[in-house]
This record gives sequence, C-alpha cells and structure tokens, in this order.
Amino acid sequence: MKLGHIAAACLSLALSAGACAQTTTLKIGYATSKESHYGVGSTVFCDEVEKGTQGRFKCQHFANSALGGERDQIEAVQLGTQDLVNTSTGPVGNFVPEVKIVDIPFLFRDYDHARKVMDGPIGQDILTKFPSKGIIALAWTENGFRHMTNSKRDIVKPSDAAGLKMRTMENKVHMDGYRTFGILPTPMAFPELFGALQQGTVDGQENPIPVILSSKFSQVQKHLSLTGHVYSPALLLLSPKVWNKLSDADKKVFVDAAKKAALAQRKKVNDDENNGIAQLEKDGMKVTRTVDGAAFREALKPAYAGYAKEFGADNIKKIADVR
Ligand code: PAF
Repeated sequence: MKLGHIAAACLSLALSAGACAQTTTLKIGYATSKESHYGVGSTVFCDEVEKGTQGRFKCQHFANSALGGERDQIEAVQLGTQDLVNTSTGPVGNFVPEVKIVDIPFLFRDYDHARKVMDGPIGQDILTKFPSKGIIALAWTENGFRHMTNSKRDIVKPSDAAGLKMRTMENKVHMDGYRTFGILPTPMAFPELFGALQQGTVDGQENPIPVILSSKFSQVQKHLSLTGHVYSPALLLLSPKVWNKLSDADKKVFVDAAKKAALAQRKKVNDDENNGIAQLEKDGMKVTRTVDGAAFREALKPAYAGYAKEFGADNIKKIADVR
C-alpha cells in the first residue's frame, strides 16, 4: 500500500482506537549480548511495553556495549540522546551518590537478601533519588554476585589475590575494598576489558557468572574463584525526555514492564549461576569453590571503617539486618 493509501485508510478508520498512531522507537543499550541476562531482561521490558502501548512504543536493542561503556550510556540517557540503559550500579554512584551504599563488598548474604533489600523500602527509596539528577530509575534489575578471574593462580584467601593487577569498575567503593585484599585495582571501562586481558595489561577482573560466560572470558582467563565478594545490582534507567511525555497510563505500562524485566533478568542470573560454572570448566577454566570468605571479611575491616564514616554505620546495619 502506498503512503497516501495508508493515510486514507487511517482517516476512514475515523481514528479508531489509535489504529494509525505513530510508533516511537526507543534505543536501549547494555554491555553484554542479547542472549545474556541484560538482553533477556531488556527484551521482556521491550515486549511488554510494545504490548501494553498497542505498538506505540518499541525498542531497538544495542547489545555488547554498542553505545559505549556504562558510564557513557548513563550520561547519554541523562542528556536524552539515548532512551534507556540496563546497567550495573558500577558507575551510577557518580551520578546519584545515594546508590553507592549498595556497592559495599560482603554487604549482602545471598540473592534472597539482596533482592529483598532492593524490592523493599531501602531499595525503593534509592530509586526516588534519580529524577532530581535527570534520570528516571524504572526498576532494579540485576547483574549478580561478582567473582574473581585471573591468569596467574587460584584465589582462596586475600593473600592469593595480593599483588594481582585487576580491572575493576570505575567505582571507588569497590576499589577501596579491593585494596584491603592487596589487589592492585585498575579501573577501566568494560568494552576495553577483553583486549586488556588478552594482552596481559591486567592479570584479572571480577564479574558475575553471566558476564564471565557471555563475554567468553574463559578464552583469556584460566582461574575462576567463586569469591562472591560483592553483589552487583543493576538498574533499568530511562531518559526524562521520554518519561515526561508519557501519559499516566503509559508510565504505569513502563514501570510494570520494568518489574517483569527484573524478574526475567534475575531468573537468567539464577540459571547461569546453576549451569554456567560447569560450562566454564568445560571451556577450560580451573574453578576454586573453597574460598575463605571469613578471611576476606576480616581483611575488609579497615574499608568498613571508611564506609561507616561515609554512609553511616546505622544505614549499613539496616541493610545487613534485612531478613
Ligand atoms: O564489569 C562491569 O563493568 C559490569 O559488571 C558489566 C560487565 C558492564 C555489566 O554491568
């Protein structure tokens, strides 16, 4: 059908039920592949939004850091040149300082604890801090508990990690903690990481299983230690340029879609945790399961003194005490 005919058909439908409403395509970006946890969550979000708005909104996916590192993408969402990003909290504290507290190492006991905090009053209150910084936080999604990989040796206790040059996110809370393990933290944007590991610019890195799997780090790293030293929350962030133009009904569709996306993303994290470690072993990684968590916690004590000063010991305890 030619354009003129479509217009005529639209008129003849007498504007029935928005049959000829325009479609807005939203650009959504994330660091890993479309098949990864971020891709799964983002796809559910986009499908739900498309369905809930009768096709008035749909997405174009930019997986594998096609729109840059997470920090660049958050900035673009703030500026309105990108519509959505599904991102770890890694660089988010540089935009919304209230987020930093959830990046403290060994703060969360397990996935149940972390998800309860994020979905409860503490996590939901943090989401309310975003709009004044020019960003809309639709929901907490998830990256997962981070584990260490390196090319040199098994890591059981902090002294094994000491002296390793390890890529970290651009996150001071992490770096302060990791220094107490004796690691030499090297902050770097994620898109540069595979090459840096390949060339030996850094000895190792730390990331959740879904990232280690989807980024094929088994090709460039021999040792995987299940340190689970920090929970890595993630967020689905939207540009206010889009949000401010939405009707109240569409806002609800977006928020509900983000909640469904979070559930799907968390399920994919669970699945990768359950099945991915065996796959990484098959791919040639040597996995250390018997990590001395108590020794890592003990080493962290000086960093915790700093966290207490920065965030308040009471606030840290409130999170730790959630059951
Ligand atoms: O290591 C990071 O920078 C993050 O964990 C990643 C891989 C970009 C996912 O959020």
